Amino acid sequence: MAGLIPQHFIDDLIARTDIIDLIDSRVKLKKAGKSYVACCPFHGEKSPSFHVSQDKQFYHCFGCGASGNVISFLMEYDRLDFVDSIDELASMYNLEVPREDSGDSQKTAQQYSIEKQQKLDYYELMEQVAQFFRQQLQTHKNGKTVVEYLKHRGLSGDIAKQFGIGYSPDDWQVVKDKFCLNGGRFDKDRENQLLDTGVLIKNEKGRIYDRFRHRVMFPIRDRRGRVVGFGGRVIDDTMPKYLNSPETPIFHKGFELYGFYEAKQANRDLKRLLVVEGYMDVVALAQHGVSWAVASLGTSTTTEQLQLMFRNTSEIICFYDGDRAGRDAAWRTLQNALPQLQDGRQMKFMFLPDGEDPDSMIRQLGEDAFISLVNKATPLSQFMFDNLIAQVEMDSEDGRSKLANLALPMVNSISDGVFAQMMKEKLAKYLGLEVQSLERFIKKSPVTSLQKKNKKANRGSIVRQAIGILIQHPKLANELQGIPRLDQVRLKGTDLLQEMIDQVHQQPDMSSAQLLERWRNTEQYTPLLKLAGWQHDVADENLESHFVDTIVQILSKHLELRLEQLSHKSRVEGLTSEERQEYAHLIANEL
Ligand code: UTP
Ligand code: MN
Repeated sequence: MAGLIPQHFIDDLIARTDIIDLIDSRVKLKKAGKSYVACCPFHGEKSPSFHVSQDKQFYHCFGCGASGNVISFLMEYDRLDFVDSIDELASMYNLEVPREDSGDSQKTAQQYSIEKQQKLDYYELMEQVAQFFRQQLQTHKNGKTVVEYLKHRGLSGDIAKQFGIGYSPDDWQVVKDKFCLNGGRFDKDRENQLLDTGVLIKNEKGRIYDRFRHRVMFPIRDRRGRVVGFGGRVIDDTMPKYLNSPETPIFHKGFELYGFYEAKQANRDLKRLLVVEGYMDVVALAQHGVSWAVASLGTSTTTEQLQLMFRNTSEIICFYDGDRAGRDAAWRTLQNALPQLQDGRQMKFMFLPDGEDPDSMIRQLGEDAFISLVNKATPLSQFMFDNLIAQVEMDSEDGRSKLANLALPMVNSISDGVFAQMMKEKLAKYLGLEVQSLERFIKKSPVTSLQKKNKKANRGSIVRQAIGILIQHPKLANELQGIPRLDQVRLKGTDLLQEMIDQVHQQPDMSSAQLLERWRNTEQYTPLLKLAGWQHDVADENLESHFVDTIVQILSKHLELRLEQLSHKSRVEGLTSEERQEYAHLIANEL
């Protein structure tokens, strides 16, 4: 397969081409002030709103919003793909398009399509591996023992089929041989793919072998039903009991839920979802008619997993062990859930008796009694307040104030609405206050003012401004000598801003079009394109000082926020010695 087109070659093409010539050869341009105009070739219009800037080497249509550089223009106007537009430009200068084996520079469209292709292959391969494990259950000499084990655990053949359960043979390289030996030849690429997807594993000595051996295999499917990973359980009491796929290009534990696809398949509408801990719990629940359980593949449930669930149901019930670890995991899940609790969404918690899990419970109780138990789960609000109140002394003024400090940030992170209001009322009641005075309290609370600032910062207005100005005038980045980097700053967009600055530092005479090109095919491309066409009202002669000012403002905003964070933390839970030093340092700087 042809390699990547080096970024410097693309830069060079952009630099050689004048966008005015290129567009003019296709759409007649007229000079108008600083830019050139025409009737937009991308939408029908009678008066020209299509502007092309020679300085920026950009076009932008104020009518339909189309904008971009020479490459985008060729892609849109000549309807070429990215690689063909590069070919087209190169042929204008009789240049051969060079290719390199791999690049660590920005991703080109080509690299993206290779990645996409690879991902497809990974999915296909994983499906084949899953199929192989399923077959082994039927054909391997140990198959019978494994089927017996599954039966002994109360699972029917139908349920095993539904979840695609299989068996990985008791061997160091049956999977490797099966998939890499190709008519007597060894397929190294295939071996790499199996390593990438975690099916094979490499030890320190470089030996490569099957990760899963002599285990019941549970394929983990993504929301579209594609196998992205596996969990494998031993059939005896060897350790570790379970082995899981590592993080791979197609498997991110925090984003997937075991059993989610199967639950969607089994239920047209998911009235509610049960979150449990184990693979076996999910499968056993389905066996007993509760086909709406999923397992989060870690101890607490991540924001992404909650989002996925809440897009498909309005009620989530989380089961945890009743011990300390289970309660801690539940608390982390609760914190992840609060910002997502809009009206109409419900979340509940259930703690299991010692030594029991949902699998053992449903086997003892049967479906109906298990469901009545689910119906008695503790609502999130109760779990939250019970927990907070247990941490403070409610009969002292101090204790109640501590409760307010703990609860307010949590209550405030819930989206406005009936539920948020109800939580405020509850809190007010515990504090012996009227909700109205709580409101006043909330306004005065240091946490809230911090949150408001955060909100404002999240809008990223000054960061956005800085990015907008920089994309239009990349050379300004060269004026930042002696100004600290933004690496520590956690305002939205500052990482992009710093990266843009770094790009210009590597190539100080970079044009807007070249800088923009670095982000093609990334999420940031469209917003950057918009900012490239944004009309700021800073006069040319003030641009330099304005830009530097903006960066300084961003830095001081960061200091201010950090100071407030630390000051709040010092009041609520105390600072670590490093944080104390940082705090002292910040205060000294600010004064
Ligand atoms: P459990 O020990 O509760 O197992 O671990 P289980 O799911 O009830 O399985 P059975 O009933 O003993 O067969 C719960 C979950 O924790 C993870 C797995 O995801 C498991 O389903 N786990 C546990 C591991 O990843 N590795 C282990 O060694 C143990
Ligand atoms: Mn179990």
